[in-house]
Amino acid sequence: MSQLKLSKGSWSTQSVFIMAAVGSAVGLGNLWKFPYITGEYGGGAFVLVYLFCILLIGIPVLFSEFILGRNGKANPVQAMANVARENNGSKAWAALGFNGVLAGLLILSFYSVIAGWALFYFVESVQGKFVGADAKAVGNLFEGLLGSQVELIFWHSLFALTTIVIVAKGLKSGIEKAINFLMPGLFFILLILLGYATTTGYFAQSFEFLFKPDFSKLTWNAVLVAMGHAFFTLSLGMGSMMVYASYVSKQHSIVKAGLWIAFADTIIALLAGLVIFSIVFANGLEPGAGPGLLFQTLPVAFGEMAGGWLFGSLFFALVVMAALSSAISLIEPAVSWFEQNWAMSRIKAAWLLGAIVWVIGLGTVLSFNAWADLHFLPEKSFFDSIDFITANIMLPLGGLMMTIFIAWVMKKQVVEAELELQTELLNVFYFIIKWIAPIAVIIVFASNLVSKENLWPMIAVSIGVYLVYLVNKVRAGGVAER
Ligand code: PHE
Repeated sequence: MSQLKLSKGSWSTQSVFIMAAVGSAVGLGNLWKFPYITGEYGGGAFVLVYLFCILLIGIPVLFSEFILGRNGKANPVQAMANVARENNGSKAWAALGFNGVLAGLLILSFYSVIAGWALFYFVESVQGKFVGADAKAVGNLFEGLLGSQVELIFWHSLFALTTIVIVAKGLKSGIEKAINFLMPGLFFILLILLGYATTTGYFAQSFEFLFKPDFSKLTWNAVLVAMGHAFFTLSLGMGSMMVYASYVSKQHSIVKAGLWIAFADTIIALLAGLVIFSIVFANGLEPGAGPGLLFQTLPVAFGEMAGGWLFGSLFFALVVMAALSSAISLIEPAVSWFEQNWAMSRIKAAWLLGAIVWVIGLGTVLSFNAWADLHFLPEKSFFDSIDFITANIMLPLGGLMMTIFIAWVMKKQVVEAELELQTELLNVFYFIIKWIAPIAVIIVFASNLVSKENLWPMIAVSIGVYLVYLVNKVRAGGVAER
């Protein structure tokens, strides 16, 4: 996989590519983030918006990113420069790749801390700590973890190190093989948990919470978060999928792959949600408990059910591995950029970038204890701020620009050859990426700009976008029309 020079390598088969892309998509976003933000934003209506975003924005952006990757055949910065040149676009499009490199590193900084929690839980579970544990005991364990900087830093370091070592080596066979049993394994344990959820007596309530929309709870901020999550969960807008698609050979279908990825990713998130909220309601817990939701609920189920020790240990091991296969794709755009454009060895790049990510991650560690009351963006801790800026701004912005590039800059015959769709379907795709997806993203951005809550971050981003536009003008006289 990534130890190959980007422009030369290719996946052995279509299914290996799908596996790797699913490995990137399925991760903490599905198991940890989706349930907790769904709980915070009130359930059904939020989920509905999220599903719409996957369908109308996520999937078209995924196709767009695949097209850019397969055509650009390099790390995201270079790939954007390549496709821009080939389609008479401005050089400034490379900034889009840079946005992705930066977003990946920022996301990985907190991703590693949370994956560290799962590592800790795996070890606890193996030791039988959850056997017979009730919601209160599990809650205390979690509080204890968050209160201990030493523990948090230890597990964060362990996860970051593992990621660095794998990426430094180049990941070929190990990860490919792991992903082969990872996804089915995860799905299997989620089904077992689903069986357990139906015995809690609160399954129907959980189902209703997820699928019965109550629009009175929906704010523009919630819509922004749902949209941001569609990007986050499908690994969009920052070049992960672009890098992976740069290894796809011409005979494989990116449309088929994209649909599979979106389907698998969505199913796993919904299953996790159904299970977690059954346990929440059965134990009188709070749906809006925040980032600890997964960690305060599932151990209760493992503590109660037959074989819970085994399934619990397996589950947290799988969470760690799912997080690992996403983490690799988060740092890969940066590593391949350093390797190809800055002539740095892969090993050096992985260690240097990993060290930077590790240090930024300390801010997230402190967000749960010493810095808990410190606000970076209004009302947001360091962790919340990084999460907000990346998932809700940088990724949608990146995705927006990608669709704009495909729709208005890239030659139509290139897009046509890439997607191999019938004319009507191709026209639908064009209609969505020309009008629906960009306008939806812009409306969501604009509505948050006028909301008091997100005013400052949105103004900052608008200034950033304007600056990129100016650079674009100065350097190459604007983007060429087709
Ligand atoms: N999609 C991953 C998840 O849901 C996170 C991720 C985001 C990975 C962006 C790569 C790029 O956990």
